[in-house]
Amino acid sequence: MKVLFVTSEAHPLVKTGGLGDVAGALPAALIAEGLDVRVIMPGYPAAMERAEGRTDGPDLGDPLGFGRTRLIAARMPDGVPLWLVDCPALFDRPGGPYNDAGRADWPDNHRRFATLSWAAAYLGKVGDGRAWLPAVVHANDWQAGLAPVYLKQWRGPGPGSLITIHNILFQGRFPRTILEEVGLSPELFRIDGIEFHGQASFLKGGLQFADRVNTVSPTYAREIQTPEMGAGLDGLLRHRKAHLSGILNGADYEIWDPSRNPNLIRNYGVDGAVEGKAACKRDLQMRMDLDPKAEAPLFGVVSRMSDQKGLDLVLAVADRLIAAGGQLVVLGSGDPAEETAYMALAEARKGSVAVQVGYDEPLAHRIQAASDALLVPSRFEPCGLTQLYAMRFGTLPVVRRTGGLADTVIDVREPHGTGILFDTASVVGLWSALERTFALYADRDAWRAALRRAMQQDFGWTRAARAYRDLYRKTIETAT
Ligand code: ADP
Ligand code: GLC
Repeated sequence: MKVLFVTSEAHPLVKTGGLGDVAGALPAALIAEGLDVRVIMPGYPAAMERAEGRTDGPDLGDPLGFGRTRLIAARMPDGVPLWLVDCPALFDRPGGPYNDAGRADWPDNHRRFATLSWAAAYLGKVGDGRAWLPAVVHANDWQAGLAPVYLKQWRGPGPGSLITIHNILFQGRFPRTILEEVGLSPELFRIDGIEFHGQASFLKGGLQFADRVNTVSPTYAREIQTPEMGAGLDGLLRHRKAHLSGILNGADYEIWDPSRNPNLIRNYGVDGAVEGKAACKRDLQMRMDLDPKAEAPLFGVVSRMSDQKGLDLVLAVADRLIAAGGQLVVLGSGDPAEETAYMALAEARKGSVAVQVGYDEPLAHRIQAASDALLVPSRFEPCGLTQLYAMRFGTLPVVRRTGGLADTVIDVREPHGTGILFDTASVVGLWSALERTFALYADRDAWRAALRRAMQQDFGWTRAARAYRDLYRKTIETAT
């Protein structure tokens, strides 16, 4: 089965969050299951530089009037075949995939991601000129949302289309006037089209026109059908219920394995975990100017800073956490006010709190290894990957019972517990979970038993890849 996987980021070429991890791992897992998968993503400078074996592919001309566009055939470093959408006018610029160095969204994002979607739809419809024609176009998030729309607008037979929602809050909404600019009929600006509260929404377009819709955990698939968590799209999702499902993401243990992770001062498996983690903790305490206390429970955070992640709650409990003898290490970036608040906390609580603002892949691994517990107090979480990595690293996740967090962590009150869950996104809720964490930490045997169980969980990508294979089959059935 030939599948075109459409994404706006993929590790290790370009990554800003979990979608990058998924796009960097799921295609390879699908290929291992016998599927013929190719990835398509924008030709950002970093992607052009890091992709291997680049050769010229189909020339798309100037499809939407935004500039010359051609496809470059290449490979991910692990061999997964890749198309890069080479349109220098849209993608050849310094800065991030979605925003400039000053964090402002690129003003032409509608053009940039319409072009990605258009190129994907073109490959889906016409193929690459060398007999590679996908049976399914798998769009991810709003950036690929127009691919199913173009496919349905263009006449004649085409592939099945699936859209995966990684986060329903990011919808790609623009003024209605952009429709014609991106080559779509203004007639689509209607409630059962891509109109959303007076704007044109790329995500809504995808949800409306894709043959199948899915998201990254079964619980989030239910949650987004409610007015509280559907971000205005719950009605549409309830309407599409029969074609909506949830598939839990996996963890890439080629990368997230403490027994062979190159970023750690000491590697460890289940058996040497206590000693290995102690060495990693000492190392991190030294590197980050934390007091060298072996016995202080170290709480880690590796996260984007946004309202979703609930890190304001961590700020609010930080003093109590320190008073109880804990230490806190935070790696994150995003909301400027939150960044500033965390830096101020680190300054005021030297020795007990260490904060690094920014994006740092090796440090993310070191924090996972050094911490005793990882805090993920999200208000909502479609899947969440850091809690999966934490478990493999013998770091107990302290998570809010929502979305994929609820689907992956078992509370230590249960016989096979692997972490600590709490229900309300409030200071009281988080603090009660932390009290339970401190109590468990004091009971060394119980802690070590939970740590062992957490490390032995298997969230590898194979299960998810098989579920996607089945979903692709259903997508083809729905399309025909
Ligand atoms: P989301 O996609 O909502 O950000 P996930 O838990 O699915 O959340 O994925 C986050 C990914 O991004 C993980 O791989 C995590 O390690 C990584 N990450 C988040 N913030 C940072 C950061 N500041 N530095 C390095 N890696 C980060
Ligand atoms: C989104 C979600 C996160 C999920 C990731 C990958 O960024 O916020 O929960 O794990 O996508 O699917």
